[in-house]
Amino acid sequence: MDPVNAPVNDTATDPAAPASLEVSGLAFAYPDGHQALFGVDFRVARGERVALLGPNGAGKTTLVLHLNGILGGGAGTVTVAGLPVGGRNTAEIRRRVGIVFQDPDDQLFMPTVREDVAFGPAAAGLRGPELRERVGRALDLVGMGGFEDRPPHHLSFGQRRRVAVATVLAMEPEILVLDEPSSNLDPASRRELADILRGLDVTVLMVTHDLPYALELCPRALVLSEGVIAADGPTAEILGDDALMRAHRLELPFGFDPRVAGRP
Ligand SMILES: Nc1ncnc2c1ncn2[C@@H]1O[C@H](COP(=O)(O)OP(=O)(O)O)[C@@H](O)[C@H]1O
Ligand SMILES: [Mg+2]
Repeated sequence: MDPVNAPVNDTATDPAAPASLEVSGLAFAYPDGHQALFGVDFRVARGERVALLGPNGAGKTTLVLHLNGILGGGAGTVTVAGLPVGGRNTAEIRRRVGIVFQDPDDQLFMPTVREDVAFGPAAAGLRGPELRERVGRALDLVGMGGFEDRPPHHLSFGQRRRVAVATVLAMEPEILVLDEPSSNLDPASRRELADILRGLDVTVLMVTHDLPYALELCPRALVLSEGVIAADGPTAEILGDDALMRAHRLELPFGFDPRVAGRP
């Protein structure tokens, strides 16, 4: 099987600038000896939106947990805007890498939306009007301005996911990493989140099983399979490669044609 290795469009970015994310030779085994990553290499230029696709058990979550140093200690390196993940850089890396977990209820734990969104920036030392402004801006970016005083648990699931995105944007991250952002969203909320993500001026890495969402939002896709990058190229080409898709248990929704859907 021939992996897709088309060149990545990073002409919009300064090639001399450090990549938002650079993963090199990353290998990792869990303490029980189960090896999940076997040498992962890729680079995400600043401003790119990249989908991370792959079957269950491929190592996607394991990879994501390496991006801000929750997991580490295996072989290889991860750098974020030139800064190596791990050790004394951990606090700065946690600020630079904004991970939106699959379940917003893992991320929202304060009595009000304001306190949840302010939590990270306040911990980083922001106070007073600066903090208020940061919170307001993050909520505006996700269309949740005016919800500051609401308890997160009174919001809809889609609204909670957007607030979870705001908690991460409030840190002004170098890269936004989303784990299954469209899961459990009704069609209207799914669409609203897509519009929000498309409008953000930030590098995005999006783990998803929602292949139409990947095509709509991410010009480039990576396929992670059995702990290695099996393909890296334009999303429309990857989704259109039937043999590749079958080999990695990726299935398009019935009747969905990426060659047609991918056209502007
Ligand atoms: N805590 C753990 N201990 C041992 N093995 C694990 C652990 N977490 C995940 N794994 C294994 O590592 C592999 C990759 O898992 P994961 O990164 O969760 O894949 P994905 O997110 O792509 O579904 C799987 O085989 C999984 O069973
Ligand atoms: Mg996972």
